[in-house]
Amino acid sequence: MTHSPLFITFEGIDGAGKSTQIERLAKRLEEQGESVLVTREPGGTPVGEKIRGLLLADDMTPKTETLLFFAARAEHAETKILPALASDTWVLSDRFTDATYAYQVGGKGFSGSEVEALETWTLGAFRPDGTVLFDLSPEAAAARRAARSGGDDRFERESAEFFARVREAYLDRAQRNPERFLIVNAESSADEIEREIAEWVKSLVRRKGEEA
Ligand code: TYD
Repeated sequence: MTHSPLFITFEGIDGAGKSTQIERLAKRLEEQGESVLVTREPGGTPVGEKIRGLLLADDMTPKTETLLFFAARAEHAETKILPALASDTWVLSDRFTDATYAYQVGGKGFSGSEVEALETWTLGAFRPDGTVLFDLSPEAAAARRAARSGGDDRFERESAEFFARVREAYLDRAQRNPERFLIVNAESSADEIEREIAEWVKSLVRRKGEEA
């Protein structure tokens, strides 16, 4: 391998279609000889998956919710993501800290500066190398969720207004961090999105190589 592995996160409102693209990128990278870890938040570790069960099922205060997301994230970063990167493995995560800014801050009105403090306490200076944001209208996302099997979790039962705020918060973060984000139109074809992501990953690898 001629470059360091990258940590790439995938974000967007529920129903935006992240999973297919995570699998496709993982496959592409593996075909190029890279080793790849696919993971998710909340979850990714045995403790994190237990916390995920609580988070998706039980009602709780916004403060409890935010702390639980960070508890799961601390375990995830320390025991899974950082060791993988250190052993030359790419990490593709279905959601990471941007989701807390979008859902808890944008959606639920939790304080952004408190989330920033928790982020620094939990992760130090560690951040994703790149983030793909799947942008989709709340109406289109709701239609997709309705079409798939399985019941909605606690977050998926939120209102269209909630998802509109989450979407705006994601777009705002992407606009403030253009060097880290790729925004894709989630209504493009899966093949088109796959190509866009592959091109962007190539440019990210070049850029990170130049910075190193
Ligand atoms: P998700 O990975 O979308 O689960 P699934 O694909 O099985 O629906 O994440 C679960 C929910 O948790 C999702 O609605 C977004 C929410 N979430 C937050 O509110 N804050 C966070 O920090 C994270 C990581 C997720």
